[in-house]
Amino acid sequence: MMDWTNLGFGFHETNCNARCYYKDGKWGKIEFSTSNEICISMAAPALHYGQQAFEGLKAFRGQDGKIRIFRLEENAKRMIRSAEGIMLQKVPTEIFTEAVVETVKRNEEFIPPYGTGGALYIRPFLIGTSPQVGVKPSQEYLFTVFVTPVGAYFPSGFKPTQVAIINSFDRVAPQGTGQLKVGGNYAAGLVAGAFAAERGYAMVLYLDSKEKKYVDECGPANFFGVKNNTYITPKSDSILPSITNDSLMKLAEDLGIKVERRPVEETELATFEEAGACGTAAVISPISVIDNLDNGKRYEYSTDNEAGPISTKLYQQLTGIQRGEIEDKFDWNTIVE
Ligand SMILES: Cc1ncc(COP(=O)(O)O)c(C=O)c1O
Repeated sequence: MMDWTNLGFGFHETNCNARCYYKDGKWGKIEFSTSNEICISMAAPALHYGQQAFEGLKAFRGQDGKIRIFRLEENAKRMIRSAEGIMLQKVPTEIFTEAVVETVKRNEEFIPPYGTGGALYIRPFLIGTSPQVGVKPSQEYLFTVFVTPVGAYFPSGFKPTQVAIINSFDRVAPQGTGQLKVGGNYAAGLVAGAFAAERGYAMVLYLDSKEKKYVDECGPANFFGVKNNTYITPKSDSILPSITNDSLMKLAEDLGIKVERRPVEETELATFEEAGACGTAAVISPISVIDNLDNGKRYEYSTDNEAGPISTKLYQQLTGIQRGEIEDKFDWNTIVE
């Protein structure tokens, strides 16, 4: 029996995972395996040259007992864009969808019960597997989907965190792979993440790599600020288009909050009433402090250690839709029968 309240964000074994192989110019049938291991050539380009892409989405147990997968089609589309960006074979949307839905179904008992705040995290990934040593796109691919139950991101409540701007690290290059969900971007951020963590910060807030003038994103999450009843989020070619951010923008508009997606200069941070990081993991991580470790500037929000009213409202709306408590008027959930 799982201890649903102490899950954290780790890897737990489940019943099975999906695999689909691309070989001789075509995708094969989706197979299910009970093994947690994959067997690939040691000469696979995924291992040497980072020719791989991944996704992250969640399934929830609703108030009505139904299973809902949040914005599955958007994740399928984003993986296609990632594949195009580093010359991976694209996974057809039908294969992506069937593999995700079927893997969730076959692991139904690992979905945390309604009320625990947990979810079933779904990790699709695509790797170039042909045995080759040269730097060129793989001829063969493996697409895999596994799931793992994850706990509530805020077990003790929706509390703000502190983030750091560190100009001496770049996450991605201005015309590089920042818009793609590919492993290399994450490896490139590990040193900056550790540097921030050692100094007590939960995340790095990256500025644009070219001028160090504009806000890009927050480690594995997009950034947003709120002022004058307006939700403002950076437009940049080097950030991952967050599906959570897209959802929050639509919800904000629906709630009568103005939405602006445009370049955000660091100096504007001083003018926000609320700030947050958004992504699948936490939906929203409210931000209380942004410290620029290079110029010593500090930007403060939520000084009472509580999330601001607009962040709280958006968080409640989004999590309510995911758990079947609020009408899914944008048709974001795939209900697993
Ligand atoms: C770099 C980066 N930015 C933003 C996000 C948030 O995206 P999403 O809302 O689709 O999870 C993620 C995580 O998924 C990420 O890795």
